Parts: sequence; structure tokens; C-alpha cells
Amino acid sequence: MNMIDNDMIESLISVETENVKVSEENEAAVRIAVQAVLEAESVIGRYPAVILTDDESIHICNRDFRSVDRPTDVLSFPADEGDALLTAPDGFLGDIMISVPTAERQAEELGHSAAREIAFLTVHGMLHLLGYDHIEPEDESIMLERQRIIISKIEDKLVSNAGVMKNTIEKNRMNEMVGLALKAMERAYVPYSHFRVGACLLGKSGKYYLGCNIENAAYSPTNCAERTALFKAVSEGELEFSALAIASDSEHFTYPCGVCRQVLSEFCSQDMPLICSDKNGKYIETTLGELLPMAFKKEDMA
Ligand code: THU
Repeated sequence: MNMIDNDMIESLISVETENVKVSEENEAAVRIAVQAVLEAESVIGRYPAVILTDDESIHICNRDFRSVDRPTDVLSFPADEGDALLTAPDGFLGDIMISVPTAERQAEELGHSAAREIAFLTVHGMLHLLGYDHIEPEDESIMLERQRIIISKIEDKLVSNAGVMKNTIEKNRMNEMVGLALKAMERAYVPYSHFRVGACLLGKSGKYYLGCNIENAAYSPTNCAERTALFKAVSEGELEFSALAIASDSEHFTYPCGVCRQVLSEFCSQDMPLICSDKNGKYIETTLGELLPMAFKKEDMA
């Protein structure tokens, strides 16, 4: 797609603000997200209207249109289903309403930028306008997969756009962390499995915490390398983290086990980079959210 096309599309996407102040980068994030969905879903000549508003207004719409008497983060009103709030010319996809204060709160909780959260909510709303939904588990997994792919395509644009920071780390840093995880692996206490694992956890303070797996004759008290590193950090007062590298004796990339994914979710944001290495230091970069979507969190106990 060339620049002229992009500019034309830009002008067709309506982004309105209502009762809230919206930064340039947050508005840009909406446009980036809308365009990404249009492109990914091969939608031509159809555009939405995005309304960025406050909790009170979204609460009223949630109550009046969905009979849910509380604020929410995003609402979609698909034109194809006759639900659109606005009347607009041919090709109108419908409206997406986003509460900026809720998006900001969620961004804070997840440890990423408001722009990223607003982009995420825009993608979610756009997919609803295009007929995706998450009522049935089967439909939900299709929608989440589309969402994940589209978001990962625009993550770099959100970084370069007005200096919005993604939770990312430098290549040099990743190499260093993998090297440290391989070194930590040498301390593994593994008389039963003989499978050594090492972890290097980077705290927000900039400090590294290294861990190895520590096995036990009773087997089940065995502690994985990732949890060793995490528990060392937490016990020293470090509660927020920027990245984790894992390495093992395997020829394959080493991913954290299910228990470690859950334990990490307690302290690490869903988009925290996870660097999963093999025994030679070759690695793949993923995130906790990718490995454990919809993790059970303290907020779920409310
Ligand atoms: N292990 C880890 O240290 N981390 C993981 O994420 C996977 C498994 C350890 C536990 C046990 O000592 C050995 O690998 C075999 O399961």
C-alpha cells in the first residue's frame, strides 16, 4: 500500500473524543489499529467511527444497549447488524466506543502503555464489527488468535510512533541474559532427571536474579529454575520485572512449565518478553501472555 492510499484511509477513519483529553499518540494508536485490522481482514472501502470517551458515557451505553449496568473498556455497534449509533455513508462498519480512563487503568495493571491498550481495544472492537465474537469457546479462540496476530503486526509501529514504549528489550541484552541463564544452569541440582535448566530474570531495578532447578528425593517439592529465580527476587523485595530468559540442556527451545507460567503471571505483565533458549544459546522470543492467555489473576477474585 502506498502513502496516498494510507492518507486517504486515514481521512476516512473517524476518531471522535467525548468528555476526555486524548494524546496524539493514543489517537494515532487507534488509527494504526483500525488500519491493521482492515488490512489483515482484507476489508476494502469500509470504515468505522471510533468514539473515545469516559467511564460515565460508556456506562450509559453499556446499560442502555446491553443491559449491563457498569462501565466497560470497549463497546462495538456493528452497522451490519443494524446496531450503529451514527448514521453514516455507505461502507460504514459501525461504531467502536472506548473508555480512555478504563484503558489507562488496564494499561497500568498490565504494565504497558495506554496507546498499546487503546490499540488492543480498537482491534477487539473492529473484529466485533466484522462479525467475530467470543460467546462460544470455539469462536473465542478464533477471535483471540486474530487479535494476537494483528496486535503483533502493529507492535513495532506503536513503538516508533511518538516514542511510545513497548515492553521490549535490546538484542544485546537478550544475548547477555541467555548467557547468564546457561551459566545459572550449571548449578542445577538434578540427581533424578539429569535435566538442567537455568533462568535469568531481569528486575525493573535493573538487577538480574539467576535460578536453576532444584530437585528432591520426594520429587514433587522440585523447584523449577524460573521459580527459583523469581522467588529469590521477590524475597529480596523486587516485585516488578522486565524480562526472563530460560535455557536448558535440550536441543529444543525451553519454555516454562504451566506452574511457572501461573506463578510468573502473579508478578509479570502479559507482554513481558520471555526468551526461550536451547542448549546452544539459540533462542525464540515470546511473551507470558502468549504462553498463558487469560491467566487467573487476583483481579479475578473480585
Ligand atoms: N524444569 C524447570 O526447571 N523449568 C521448566 O519450566 C520445566 C521443567 C525442571 C524441573 C525438573 O527438575 C526437570 O526440569 C524435569 O522436569
